[in-house]
Amino acid sequence: MRARTGNPTRMIRVRVPGRTARYPVRVERGLLARAGLLLRAMGTHRTAVLVTDATVGRLYGALVASALSRGGYRVRVYNVPDGERAKSFPVFRRLCEAWARDGITRDAVVVALGGGVVSDLAGFAAASFYRGLDWAVLPTTLLAQADAAIGGKVAIDLETGKNLVGAYHHPLAVFADPDALATLPARAYRAGFAEIVKMGVVARPSILDAVARLARRGGLGDPSSAAPLVLAAAAEKANLVGKDERDQGVRRHLNFGHTVGHALETAYGYRRFLHGEAVSVGMVAALRLSVLEAGLDPVDAVEVETLLRSVGLPTSVREVPDRPFWDALGRDKKRGRAKLRVVLCPAIGKAKVFEMSSLTTLRRVVRSLTS
Ligand SMILES: NC(=O)c1ccc[n+]([C@@H]2O[C@H](COP(=O)([O-])OP(=O)(O)OC[C@H]3O[C@@H](n4cnc5c(N)ncnc54)[C@H](O)[C@@H]3O)[C@@H](O)[C@H]2O)c1
Ligand SMILES: [Zn+2]
Repeated sequence: MRARTGNPTRMIRVRVPGRTARYPVRVERGLLARAGLLLRAMGTHRTAVLVTDATVGRLYGALVASALSRGGYRVRVYNVPDGERAKSFPVFRRLCEAWARDGITRDAVVVALGGGVVSDLAGFAAASFYRGLDWAVLPTTLLAQADAAIGGKVAIDLETGKNLVGAYHHPLAVFADPDALATLPARAYRAGFAEIVKMGVVARPSILDAVARLARRGGLGDPSSAAPLVLAAAAEKANLVGKDERDQGVRRHLNFGHTVGHALETAYGYRRFLHGEAVSVGMVAALRLSVLEAGLDPVDAVEVETLLRSVGLPTSVREVPDRPFWDALGRDKKRGRAKLRVVLCPAIGKAKVFEMSSLTTLRRVVRSLTS
């Protein structure tokens, strides 16, 4: 099918190691309204199980439900609560119970419509229910379009830590519609830049230049201008997933900033920070640690911090709740047997996994986040 004039189809393909098929990530305006027909071309499922949160459901639920009907699906809609706390066992269980009550079986395709919370939760439910239903993602936040919807990692949180229960379950397709970003609250929009900057720091420095240009031009307020950044970040994510699906090598680099970021989110009971905000502060910690432990040029570290501030992301916190933070860090699943694993950046565009034998430097760096 030809793209409409002025709206070129942008297609990335994610290669899953060991599988011949690649799945598409499309970034294109108007995709939400065409999701049903596009998805129909990918399978013969009879039922579409549309999972969305309260806010996104209100905004786009009807549009996507009728698009799915036009694709010939019998549509069932399931609303989950907004926000990180929906990535929990109680919500997961309620969702699966509802599917079971409604007689959802393997002829269904799960369609996740929303941000990273919805795609992680619905993707994990799709991975588990009937030992695996097909699914597709319609990401509606900048963060999910640029990162979370791609790569097949799906999970829910425990009180003791983020993403501790999950699976690898790739979607049939990712359809990212930049038009959906227009309704995103400013805070959620800004949070998306954290993962985009992360991709620039660990793998593709040109992304940092593009974010800086956008900030200088005052384009941050216009979500449609983020589409090229979504594409660049999504392409880089697809590239890393294609090289290392299961987090054994380069995909781990995407955890840059997440050791401290996840511990902050957990320590505050998933209420205080959006994920991107916590990752932003976590990246500042990782950059400072990289200067001390991996030879990163301090000027580069400061430049990235300045860039994060220029897109409105936090680079410090008023306080770190000492006990819950260090407890969460200790339980972080990236912890090796005896040593804490962190991702460091020896130079912009490069990353390496580092095992910390002592926490002394990290404690110093974490203290510096509150000053
Ligand atoms: N699986 C992965 O590879 C991966 C990667 C990165 C992040 N994540 C996960 O993603 C989650 C964060 O995702 P997020 O930042 O998208 O948060 P989110 O899903 O909570 O969305 C943020 C808020 O924006 C609202 N919203 C979403 N789309 C909207 C729209 N178009 N218009 C108006 N409001 C809208 C939502 O209702 C929500 O309140 C975290 O749980 C994180 O762990 C997963
Ligand atoms: Zn993240």
